[in-house]
Amino acid sequence: MTSTSPAQVFAVITAAGSGTRLGSDRPKALVELDGISLVEHALRSLHSGGVDCAVVTAPPERFEDFRALLEFRDVVRVVPGSPLSRQASVAAGLEALAQTAAALSDDSPVLIHDAARPLVSPQLVSRVIDALRAGEQAVIPGLAVADTLKSFHEVPEASAGQAQGAHYVEATVDRAGLVAVQTPQGFPWKVIRELHRRAAASANSEATALTDDAGLAQQAGIPVRIVAGEGRALKITTPIDLVFARAILAEDARA
Ligand code: C5P
Repeated sequence: MTSTSPAQVFAVITAAGSGTRLGSDRPKALVELDGISLVEHALRSLHSGGVDCAVVTAPPERFEDFRALLEFRDVVRVVPGSPLSRQASVAAGLEALAQTAAALSDDSPVLIHDAARPLVSPQLVSRVIDALRAGEQAVIPGLAVADTLKSFHEVPEASAGQAQGAHYVEATVDRAGLVAVQTPQGFPWKVIRELHRRAAASANSEATALTDDAGLAQQAGIPVRIVAGEGRALKITTPIDLVFARAILAEDARA
């Protein structure tokens, strides 16, 4: 990876997940929308939004396939992610950044993005970068929650007409103070490097790992700034999400 300007923006794209819930015959990041893989869509969006260099974490067993697909660009490096957790995959990507990106400095903006959010707009990517350049230490996109939210409990044993294992409502959760969190999440290099170093022990199991990077900042008492998220940054998880994503691309083509 070649790097020249101190103002460069870096990214780690997590693409090492299996995508079991999508029911695909390939890793989720290689599923295609309009003939282009999810991970390539994500790379395009990040580059259009201002990212200069990216490390992609691939499923270890498909590492060579990802490399053949992506590494012809000298601004993209592919490394094996971790089967243990997303957090461990991000840590592997950050380690690769440290080793290969000569222009990294303590204050370099670093974005962590899920390949599972392929249609994020360049405008959202820029919003995260701009907030970092304005001095924020942790930045996440957040979207107001539309559904009514309720907490629940599971019935441990059958009793009085309640089936074992069934779910019953505990309470309604006030959605006014909640956001659904998306990626890319942004941090200065020195912050994200240190957060992952300190949390390395918890990355080895899904039970202890965190599902996003801002969670590590919260644990460390770092204020996490929320910028406006967007519907098109939806996360591809189940087959219906691909239907929505294709509709967004069809709309883009008409615009
Ligand atoms: O599984 P889920 O969709 O929540 O994963 C979020 C993102 O993290 C995906 O882009 C996936 O490829 C990535 N991931 C990873 N390493 C893992 C698990 C997930 O890079 N072990």
